[in-house]
Amino acid sequence: MAGYEKPDFWTLKAKKEGYPARSVYKLEEIVAKFGLIKTTGSQDQTAGKAGPKILDIGAAPGSWSLWLLRKLAGRGFLVAVDIQDLGISPSDPNFSFIKGSILDEEIRARLREAGPYSLVVSDAAPSTTGNRLVDQARSEELVESVMDLALHVLAPGGSLVMKIFQSGEEKRLISQLKTHFSQARAYKPEACRAQSFETYLVAMGYQAK
Ligand SMILES: C[S@@+](CC[C@H](N)C(=O)[O-])C[C@H]1O[C@@H](n2cnc3c(N)ncnc32)[C@H](O)[C@@H]1O
Repeated sequence: MAGYEKPDFWTLKAKKEGYPARSVYKLEEIVAKFGLIKTTGSQDQTAGKAGPKILDIGAAPGSWSLWLLRKLAGRGFLVAVDIQDLGISPSDPNFSFIKGSILDEEIRARLREAGPYSLVVSDAAPSTTGNRLVDQARSEELVESVMDLALHVLAPGGSLVMKIFQSGEEKRLISQLKTHFSQARAYKPEACRAQSFETYLVAMGYQAK
């Protein structure tokens, strides 16, 4: 794992641009490729006049949230949730952080109340134990939970970006997503480490039932 210790291009770029983690460039690439954030209200049917409302799940240390706030540039609203504290403290009136687990019903209720959202992004990943079976089970529980939460908080036409660890489950998850969204596919951004098993599922055009 020596490669993990050496700061790579993306880590150095993140540091220079003031982001606590290099993961920010994965989100930047996904948002650009799929055109997920339209900051001019008229272009985005799900956004409303105030701009898009976005939910960032598994937000700590806060790179995605910081990038999203910079992208929104004072329009819209961002809600972030994580079990851990954020490493950033934006004094932005359009930002709210909820500390807790999305597996907790009380937290899910608070996130529902703060919605609906035009975009839900999740980089959430459980802490690993080293036991492959336990880690995989935890990861699957979290992914199911993110998907279920998204289906309860998205506005019609909304989009979901969700990290998963490749385990042969992608096809099942994508077909499940396709029953609720007009499009769904897996996408691995260039900023993912080559040896990483992670990929992202991107679903657009939420069809509320
Ligand atoms: C890879 S980090 C996210 C990095 C973040 N996107 C950034 O750019 O700074 C994964 C996060 O998922 C969070 N997480 C794991 N399980 C969670 C849960 N059940 N509810 C909320 N957050 C969770 C972890 O605490 C961790 O901070």
